[in-house]
Amino acid sequence: MSSSSYIEYHGLLLPHISHSAESLEYAENFSVEDTDVFAVTYPKSGTVWMQEILPLVLNGGDLTPIKTIVNWDRVPWLETTRLAQIVDQLASPRGLVSHFPYNLMPPSFHTSKAKVIYVMRNPKDVFVSSYHFHQITSFVDDPGTFDEFMEKFLEGRVMNGKWTDHIKSWKRAELGDRILFITYEEMVQDLPASIKLMSDFLGNNLSEEVIQKIAEQCSFKTMKSNPMSNFSLVPKKYMDIEKAPFLRKGIAGDWKNHFNSEQLARFTSVLRKELEGENFSLPWSLD
Ligand code: A3P
Repeated sequence: MSSSSYIEYHGLLLPHISHSAESLEYAENFSVEDTDVFAVTYPKSGTVWMQEILPLVLNGGDLTPIKTIVNWDRVPWLETTRLAQIVDQLASPRGLVSHFPYNLMPPSFHTSKAKVIYVMRNPKDVFVSSYHFHQITSFVDDPGTFDEFMEKFLEGRVMNGKWTDHIKSWKRAELGDRILFITYEEMVQDLPASIKLMSDFLGNNLSEEVIQKIAEQCSFKTMKSNPMSNFSLVPKKYMDIEKAPFLRKGIAGDWKNHFNSEQLARFTSVLRKELEGENFSLPWSLD
């Protein structure tokens, strides 16, 4: 299966604006360092937020990177064409993001000690955020109506495949303490506490004062006015943030403003079935 906006890679649809056979080969051969930190997400779960938080946690709160480097160069995606162009400019320890499922991570990741912060978001909010994202971007397929897009999402006929496959792929015992699972909802509810969790996980032991400073800089409001993070530097023909901002609402539970009872029942029943028999539980109720 393929469609005009995407290339297909191991069954995953990836926007060809930012992915190519070369970039995927580069990712496969990428040399992961023990000190690398990956923020892994299914799209619309808080990736760009992590591109703001991670450099500050790694550098002890120095604001220079978030004020001077656009998010996609500051904490690049492993799988996109941009990585090869800017890899030499990355500060050490390196922060990277990826939407890859576990099985597509490069061999060097598996043999390294690199750490992963996996951000999960309530899939109903992921879906709503994605639906809106598709309205302002030209490099993804037309989502169709809300109902049509819901079917595509549930079947995984959207960029980066099925949400359930992504979550399942990363719930691996073998990663042990190399992975921290955190939810978007926890981050919305208490960002300083979430930053402290990340800092402790990475062994950075940031002070309370630095954590507060990072939380202020990474708040929804501050990020919305940061040209290095609000996508205002992307040409309008690719993303029209005048139509609606990329940093749209930044809340938990917006699905309630979008789903009717039939849509909720459909969404829930498909996800329940997909997750049947899995040995992990979700941090939110699917209802
Ligand atoms: P909404 O569309 O629900 O507002 P991603 O970066 O993975 O594509 O995720 C985008 C979602 O993360 C958007 O959700 C965006 O607003 C939200 N987001 C980004 N930065 C945020 C922040 N500082 N606080 C809360 N939400 C944030």
